[in-house]
Amino acid sequence: MTDHIPVLLKETISGLNLKKGDVVIDGTINVGGHSIEIAKLIGKEGYIIGIDQDSDALCLAQKNLEKIESKLALLRGNYRDMDILLQETGIVSVHAILLDIGLSNRQLTDSGRGFSFAKDEPLLMTFNPHPKEDELTAYEILNTWDEENIADIIYGYGGERFSRRIAKNVVEARKESPIRRTFQLVEIVNRSIPFWYKKKSRNPATKTFQALRITVNDELGALKTGIEKAVALLKKDGRLAIITFHSGEDRIVKKTFRDLAQQQIVEIVNKKPIVPSEEELSNNPKARSAKLRIVQKAHDQIEIA
Ligand SMILES: C[S@@+](CC[C@H](N)C(=O)[O-])C[C@H]1O[C@@H](n2cnc3c(N)ncnc32)[C@H](O)[C@@H]1O
Repeated sequence: MTDHIPVLLKETISGLNLKKGDVVIDGTINVGGHSIEIAKLIGKEGYIIGIDQDSDALCLAQKNLEKIESKLALLRGNYRDMDILLQETGIVSVHAILLDIGLSNRQLTDSGRGFSFAKDEPLLMTFNPHPKEDELTAYEILNTWDEENIADIIYGYGGERFSRRIAKNVVEARKESPIRRTFQLVEIVNRSIPFWYKKKSRNPATKTFQALRITVNDELGALKTGIEKAVALLKKDGRLAIITFHSGEDRIVKKTFRDLAQQQIVEIVNKKPIVPSEEELSNNPKARSAKLRIVQKAHDQIEIA
């Protein structure tokens, strides 16, 4: 099992400005890397409500957080529904919220759901380990969507300059047989790009895989709704910290925070995003694209337009 190293841990925990007895939502708790540190600060009077879409991750979180003193509720679901999920706990407002979005190392390497181009797995890419029949999967996108739509997501969410060629070859390939597994997709991407591009340091399939994962899980939609819900649930002076891993996500966080600040609903805590130190990057190179932004709620009750 590949451990997930929590990203920007010190910076996030100090940025949340936690006190003993605080109630905190960890909206992407995964196996609880940030929550263990949160528990140390909020103590036995404190309460962590951990949300994740991945039930396997929640089982591990339960184990990892066994010894914390704070009260703990683990809820399976999407953080975009945090207001509804919170009803199970009877809590109506909280002191701090963390969203550390994207996927964990374990999901990348051990989930068997096709997140990694380095393993030959079925093309699911759902955060939910047991997707229902009607849930969108990478398989469905690759085998049923129009060429133009496939190209648009690979370009829009992956920033892949050869998106059109990849989409064209996807549609050609599926005429022969369905694209079921990651290695089939890797082969199509490799066939679609020029030789000089393959020699760049990143694997050429990185952007296509990222784009499919973002689309399957509607990650940008969840982020926009999640921010609105989170801000509405915060008490006055409560803080929302968000860690993102690519520019499309960071743009949404930056713009939404700026809009909320203009409406005087929140105050921006850090104007520039906080990024990992050299020391963190030497221990965990996977943190290289992480950006942390934090806001503080300005009022007790708000109505979001
Ligand atoms: C980067 S990991 C979080 C790691 C965690 N902070 C830690 O240090 O252990 C991201 C987690 O968010 C979950 N996730 C992503 N989008 C989600 C969403 N919209 N709702 C709930 N969970 C989500 C993933 O399943 C994954 O477990």
